This record gives sequence, C-alpha cells and structure tokens, in this order.
Amino acid sequence: ASLSTFVNEPFLDFADADVKRSMEAALAEVKGELGREYDLVIGGQRLRTAEKITSINPARPAQVVGVHQMAEAEHAEPAVKAALKAFETWSRLPVAERVELLLKVSKIISERKYQLCAWLTFEVGKNWAEADADVAECIDFMEFYAREALRLDGSTTPIQFPGEKNVLKYVPLGVGAVIPPWNFPFAIMAGMTAAAIVTGNTVVLKPSVDATTIAAVFFGILEEAGLPAGVVNFCPGAGPGFGSTVVAHPQTRFVAFTGSKKVGLEIHESAAKTQPGQRFIKRTILEMGGKDAIIVDGDCDIDMAVDGVLASAFGFSGQKCSACSRAIVDAEIYDVFCDRLVEKVEKIKQGDPAENFYAGPVISPLAYKRVLDYIEIGKGEGRLLTGGEAVANEGGYYVAPTVFADVLPTARIALEEIFGPVLAVIKYESFDEALEIANNTEYGLTGAIYSGSREKLERAREEFHVGNLYLNRKCTGAMVGAHPFGGFNMSGTDSKAGGPDYLLLFTQGKSVAEKV
Ligand code: NAD
Ligand code: ALA
Repeated sequence: ASLSTFVNEPFLDFADADVKRSMEAALAEVKGELGREYDLVIGGQRLRTAEKITSINPARPAQVVGVHQMAEAEHAEPAVKAALKAFETWSRLPVAERVELLLKVSKIISERKYQLCAWLTFEVGKNWAEADADVAECIDFMEFYAREALRLDGSTTPIQFPGEKNVLKYVPLGVGAVIPPWNFPFAIMAGMTAAAIVTGNTVVLKPSVDATTIAAVFFGILEEAGLPAGVVNFCPGAGPGFGSTVVAHPQTRFVAFTGSKKVGLEIHESAAKTQPGQRFIKRTILEMGGKDAIIVDGDCDIDMAVDGVLASAFGFSGQKCSACSRAIVDAEIYDVFCDRLVEKVEKIKQGDPAENFYAGPVISPLAYKRVLDYIEIGKGEGRLLTGGEAVANEGGYYVAPTVFADVLPTARIALEEIFGPVLAVIKYESFDEALEIANNTEYGLTGAIYSGSREKLERAREEFHVGNLYLNRKCTGAMVGAHPFGGFNMSGTDSKAGGPDYLLLFTQGKSVAEKV
C-alpha cells in the first residue's frame, strides 16, 4: 500500500465565526457528558474497582470531568498476560492491516476534532488553540507513523552479499508499558501508543491520573476502529503501585514513558534490574523535563524576540516540557527587552479556558503549590517584575504570569523545572557567556536564539546543546515530521517522536541470509 505524502494537520482558525460556533457547540455537548464513569479494560474485559480516580476541571475543581477505575499492583499481571496473548496474533498481521487501523483512528479523530478539543479544555485547562494543537499533533502522529510503518516494512540490507539473498526485517519487541504525562494528554499518549501498536507490539496503557478521561475517549475510538481485544489494555492507575509494577514485570519488554526527570530515572533504574524469569534486556524510551532557554542577542529584532519569549514561556501557562523558563538577554538591550516583555505579560488575559482565555489554571493543587513555592524562592533570588501571586477565580488553580529579572544562572529558579508560568530573565555580557548559561543545566530539551548575526546563529547551531534548537523563532510548538522531538542529557533518551527513527525504537532488526 502507498499513502499520499504526509502533511501536517492544519490548525483551526477560531477567529472564523463558523469555527467559533462549532467549538462552542462542542463545549456545550461535552459539558453534558462530564462526570461519566469509565471502565478499566483488560483483554476486552470491562472491570470496575472499589477505588476510583476522579478527574476534575482545574479551572473549576468542583466540576468532575470523568470517574475512572484505579488499577492496583495486582492488575499488572492480568494486563501483561492479556497483552502477551494478543501479541501472538497482532504481531503477525500484515503491516498494512495495522496501518489501516491507525488511519481509521485518524479519520475518527478528525471528524470529532471539536469534541476532543472540548475534552482537553475541560480536563486539563487548555484554551482552544492549545487544545487544537494537541488534537492536530495527535492526527499527525497517526498519519506519520502509518507512513513510517510502511516505509520500515519496505527496508532491507544496504548491500546484497554475492550468492545470498539478504533481508533485514524490523520485528516487534513484545509487550510495552505506555506511560504518558498529563500535559499533552492526547497527542503524546496516543502517539506513543500508536507507534507501539503499528509496529506490532501490544500495550498496557496507563494514563496520567490528571488526564484519564481523554485517554478513555481515545481508547473508545480505538475500539470503535476495530482494535482487537488485548492489543491495548486500558489501565488507569497511579504511577507508584500499578505503573511501577508493570514496569518491573518480567514480561514487559519495553517502556515508552514521557514525564518528569524523577520518574523517568526511576523507570530507567527499575527496568534495568533483571527480574526472575526475564529473558531479555528491557528497552526504555524516556522523554523527560526541560529548563529551556531563549538567548536574546543585542542585534535581534527585539519585538520578535519578546513575542517568541512570551509565547514560549506563557503558552498553556508554561506547562510544556518545551516551555521557555529562562530568557538569557544581552546587557545591551536588557532593560528595553524587560520593559517590552512586562508590558505584554501584563496584557495577558487569564480566566476559564472554556471561554478561551489565553492563560488558564495550572493542572492541580500539587502543581499550584509547587509553582507558588518556586515563586517564593524566586522572590529571594531575583527582582519580581510582574505576577508573583495566586489569582482567585472559581476555586481554579490560577497563578499570575510571573517574570523575575536579574536572576543568576546558578539560582534555583534558573536550574530547576518549575512547570508553570514563571520566567527567569538572566543578563549576559558576551556571547560566550550566553551559550555557557544556556548549557548550564542538567537538561537539554529545547532552546532558541534571536539574533541578526549569522555568525552567532551558526555558533548556536553548533554549541547550544539541546535536542530541539530553533533560530529566530519560539522554542515551543514542534511539528511532527519537521521537528522530530526529544532531548539531550537529563531531558531523556532523545527518542525523536515524530521523526524518521522513532519507530525503530519499538522494533528489533532481524537479518536473514539465504544461500541462493
Ligand atoms: P510525571 O513524571 O509526574 O508522570 C508521568 C507519568 O508517569 C504519569 O502517567 C504517572 O502516573 C507515571 N508515574 C509516576 N510515577 C511512576 C512510577 N513510579 N512508575 C511508573 N509510572 C509512574 O510527569 P507529569 O507531571 O505527568 O508531566 C510533566 C512532566 O513531563 C514535566 O517534567 C515535563 O517536562 C515532562 N514532559 C516531557 C515531554 C518530552 O517530550 N520530553 C513532553 C511532555 C511532558
Ligand atoms: N512538542 C511540544 C512542543 O514542541 C512539547 O511544544
């Protein structure tokens, strides 16, 4: 089979009256579906547990978005067993059939785009454009991995040895644990799942407790598209307990994880420990946190840089692994940059994402406390330019967009991932120093530089040590296919989701030589 050339899903234009009306209608429709209870599904069997996960709207914590079952450690064994059983047939299907499944899923998602955006708005507090970007990226992953699976299936050895027929096939690994974060709860959750299953693996999917409903909706779409029982086992549950037990299970062949550095490293360590009866080395695909920086050089277009920093730092309230949390600014333009930035930050409108305010709440009481604690630390480490406090609104977890200036590169708010709307501005005197500061964290995920100097841009290209570098543009918003995504150092295993090498991580190469 061959498919049309991949193109990124276009974004919706909410300024268009029809598009706006469709989004409002979807919000009203999905509002009527909030609070439903969803099953845990293992091997096609629907289960209910005594303990539940209650997913709430962070903008209105009294509003329940979905009620879910709580998989416990004892559910790990049946879930892995069901996936192993399904692997026997799923792994042997012609790749075209698995590809067809992904394309069906993609079609259903496209048809329900507005409703899916609405679920994201209610469950994690994304404004319309942020929700749309998540859904569009999900469609991109389905379409891109469908094409990549066909490409991989067509690969062979670079040369044929005389007198032999040589073949190199990429075969699936086995059962994988897919463990996504809450912040791109649709695209990343579905993308890791899709990559695993299109290559013939089967999955135990454990979504984040903060974003379980959108995963349940996705699982429903998989079932609707005809996914056989056991290929994906839908297991909401806590990380420690169910998640850690699946990771440690001797028959879990790989773990696809996206989340924090702390949990990623725990998974790495646990997966490295051979369990009794284990017959393989587990593979881990770990994409973790960031402390991303934008260098603002003296001879850049300052307004363009201000807009780029603003969008990167405060889009989705800074709750992106790719978010800019450090602006490293040339002393020559430092004061002008700070003034213009603060002027724009203070114009940010904050409120309920369902009403499409630019800035919504942070995800949970835990995140709210963490961000506010960092703000207190920041007050001792830098000069507060704007924000710096919680904002009361319907009990939602709102934190004002916050900027600290005069932060030292060694300050905690310049080194630790805050994962909220907090930006540290750091001054530099020389470009050498700017690069040194940019590289001075344990992370290495995204980074950007605004400069009019070709020489400096080229130096950044070589010396700015991050997995995703952007020149004269913001550091968020990677596009599938164009910006394969993944970080260096403690930001992860640089798996490059949405890139040409990603599916290889879910396979093992089998070389077969036949004498002719
Ligand atoms: P998290 O690490 O708290 O949780 C991620 C997932 O791991 C959740 O499903 C959670 O339940 C599970 N988990 C927790 N403890 C576990 C354990 N012991 N064993 C197995 N699973 C466990 O992260 P989060 O708060 O959901 O997401 C935010 C983090 O994710 C940030 O650090 C952000 O930078 C990072 N992130 C990275 C990328 C990337 O591509 N690099 C993308 C998005 C988010
Ligand atoms: N892929 C997301 C971005 O680039 C995290 O912003």
